[in-house]
Amino acid sequence: MAKNILKTPSLLQYILETSSYPKEHEQLKLLRETTIHKYGKRSIMNVPLDEAQFISMLLKIMNAKKTLEIGVFTGYSLLTTALALPSNGKIIAIDMDREAYETGLPFIQKAEVDHKIDFIQSDALSAINGLIDGKHEESFDYAFVDADKENFIKYHELLLKLVKKGGIIAYDNTLWSGSVAMSEDDEMEDMIKRKRNIAIEFNNYIANDTRIESTILSIGDGVTLCRLL
Ligand SMILES: C[S@@+](CC[C@H](N)C(=O)[O-])C[C@H]1O[C@@H](n2cnc3c(N)ncnc32)[C@H](O)[C@@H]1O
Repeated sequence: MAKNILKTPSLLQYILETSSYPKEHEQLKLLRETTIHKYGKRSIMNVPLDEAQFISMLLKIMNAKKTLEIGVFTGYSLLTTALALPSNGKIIAIDMDREAYETGLPFIQKAEVDHKIDFIQSDALSAINGLIDGKHEESFDYAFVDADKENFIKYHELLLKLVKKGGIIAYDNTLWSGSVAMSEDDEMEDMIKRKRNIAIEFNNYIANDTRIESTILSIGDGVTLCRLL
């Protein structure tokens, strides 16, 4: 799934060339390049640079110290987060795929932020339930969800228990390449249509949730920010 398809190529190019690429941390650049080399087209799963810059600034503005990441892959958003947190910051990062995490790990170590990360290799739902049982309730400043879209509503219900009031839950890919705004009758591949319908269901769920305030940003593939009331 192409990320950043929402913007005209020239506008996106301008943002990348003037802001994103010049400021990309050396280890993030190496992690991105290594992911492309190893995973080819799947490397598109890394969050794009402009979104990563936004996340970094958000975390600093929030003064976030304890965060949760669901869906790590090779760790572009994870390293971005680790670089943005203070030296005593902590991230619990969950993914079933240890090999992908270990592909990015040398760059996280070279950036000297690995001490902030506790990686849990697990299915996300059981790991999150484990955190609730393990007395992490209302302790996270921020959670980033970038795993299986089918479970976003379940993740949301659980994360509302783990994130502090006033904290942020961010969901990735909520505009699904702009397909959420397309008509049911428009021609789309079956997979895009299925994911589009999942994204629409999730977006409606969030829009009607009175426990949070939310906004959808048309950055990357669409990021929904939820602030817990
Ligand atoms: C889009 S990638 C994450 C990209 C990452 N945030 C980045 O910027 O590099 C999605 C990841 O979610 C993981 N994932 C999908 N479903 C999962 C589940 N049920 N439990 C744990 N991890 C899952 C996949 O293994 C994959 O690595």
